[in-house]
Amino acid sequence: PEGDYERGKKVFKQRCLQCHLVDSTATKTGPTLNGLIGRKSGQVAGFDYSAANKNKGVTWNRETLFEYLLNPKKYIPGTKMVFAGLKKADERADLIKYIEVESAK
Ligand code: HEM
Repeated sequence: PEGDYERGKKVFKQRCLQCHLVDSTATKTGPTLNGLIGRKSGQVAGFDYSAANKNKGVTWNRETLFEYLLNPKKYIPGTKMVFAGLKKADERADLIKYIEVESAK
């Protein structure tokens, strides 16, 4: 089911914004998520990814993000993203809705 943009915005602010921007190409601790949807993993120019993230070879979309964000370390063993994951499916769906909209700006 489609997530809720406004709820997703709150999740992003609370859980992701400390390390990622989505509406700008600027890098923080994590790579920008601008333009993320449809892009392969590890492709932000100039960002120093782990080999694990760089070589995952997945295309980021609703389905892959839904699984990744449940348990990033399980989906990409060796990732340097320090994030435990979002256990609630509705939170992930809301967040992904927000990312879909904002990352396309
Ligand atoms: C990587 C999303 C939280 C730091 C990534 C990637 C995505 C992502 C999709 C892969 C990007 C790519 O392949 O280009 C998110 C979302 C978050 C979140 C949606 C919130 C739910 C965080 C937090 C931190 C962080 C809190 C910092 C404490 C990083 C780092 C990488 C990364 C350093 C690169 C990992 C590597 O090269 O192994 N994140 N992230 N992220 N994220 Fe996050």
